[in-house]
Amino acid sequence: MRTQVGIIGAGPAGLLLARLLHTAGIDSVVLESRDRAYVETRQRAGILEQGTADALRAAGAGERMDREGLRHDGIELRFARRRHRVDFPTLTGGRSVTVYAQTEVCKDLIALQRREGGPLLFGAEALAVEDAATDRPRVRYRHRGRERVLECAYVAGCDGFHGVSRAAVPPTVARTYERSYPYAWLGVLAAVPPSHDELVYARHDRGFALLSLRSPTVSRLYLQVPAGTDPAAWSDAEIWDELERRLETDDAWQLARGPLTAKSVTPLRSFVHEPLRHGRLLLAGDAAHIVPPTGAKGLNLAVGDAVALARALIAAERGDPAPLAAYSADRLRRVWQAERFSNAMTALLHRPPDATPFDDRLQLAQLDRVATCRAARADLAEAYTGEPFTGGD
Ligand code: FAD
Ligand code: DHB
Repeated sequence: MRTQVGIIGAGPAGLLLARLLHTAGIDSVVLESRDRAYVETRQRAGILEQGTADALRAAGAGERMDREGLRHDGIELRFARRRHRVDFPTLTGGRSVTVYAQTEVCKDLIALQRREGGPLLFGAEALAVEDAATDRPRVRYRHRGRERVLECAYVAGCDGFHGVSRAAVPPTVARTYERSYPYAWLGVLAAVPPSHDELVYARHDRGFALLSLRSPTVSRLYLQVPAGTDPAAWSDAEIWDELERRLETDDAWQLARGPLTAKSVTPLRSFVHEPLRHGRLLLAGDAAHIVPPTGAKGLNLAVGDAVALARALIAAERGDPAPLAAYSADRLRRVWQAERFSNAMTALLHRPPDATPFDDRLQLAQLDRVATCRAARADLAEAYTGEPFTGGD
């Protein structure tokens, strides 16, 4: 098989890239190792920056998001049993975020691709990217039990952290930067209306807790747990008891309990692979970078990469190679800003297992600074709601 752009991975990055190329008249083939049901139900992120929501709208994938997504104008920071609101529009000149689950973003993009786009093959596992530094890169993949080859003008590696495309960048060219954290997130879905109308990020001596939501009737909650925790080690009642302790306030606020419908543990990791381009192989999304989830940046970065890469590939097809040449450096600036913010939010809200009393006091002073200083709050609000996607970004 032959195509202009071979896209590995049908997560948000690969699906949006395929959609944007299609609307510009450029052919692509998407190879996805898992089946459709798996991709559409895998629980992950839920917060869209304004730039992400705008990009989905511009791609023609915003209709259901605009109907069912929930606009949020702030978050609550909770520490020392008190609540402090961060109001986004007043701090950022009008910006907000949208609560709309990654599962729904993927469902909408898959439906569009199936209706109007090029081939999207589920159960097609990329094995290797070959000849990336030549004019004729190829993807070797397995589909329906047979090994096949996809010949391309460009290959987009959108295959997530555990994909194969990153390995095609020779070690002499690649540099990686990494940090792992001594804690993970135990995440649950609960069939109960969220106990607060905005997200609550809570710092507690027992560890971080987050109250989020998927819809007006479904809550999404997270607890900081030690790295390597088995989700089965926590009973439903233990999870609710722990959430209640960490979210407790001095006022009359109460946590509503309900049946848990999903439970999983996500490790926390920071990772960047440089550069994002090797010859005609371009990396986008989690294939090139991971952030710890505290700042809700992973999905938004993946969408930003896809928008920038689509613009660059469209320009290259029209005879202007400059945006493609600038893709890696332009995006890495954004990536490192997201790494900085995600790391800072993680440090602000989690309790390391070896925290000293001095560390605790310092962390509370940092939170107090955010709660009481407008400039500190504005800095958080600007990073959380995201820089607009502009120009070549
Ligand atoms: P992915 O969504 O990972 O998509 C990559 C796709 O490539 C997958 O469908 C995969 O099956 C496919 N693939 C992999 N290897 C191959 C291969 N060899 N051949 C073909 N296809 C392949 N972010 C937040 O902001 N908040 C969160 O709460 C949050 N929770 C997360 C929980 C988990 C468990 C994980 C893993 C991530 C979470 N993230 C979260 C991060 C966010 O979901 C990701 O940043 C986002 O999914 C990145 O999109 P992507 O398209 O780059 O990669
Ligand atoms: C969610 C995940 C995040 O990482 C975050 O910061 C906020 C919300 C969520 O899954 O709802």
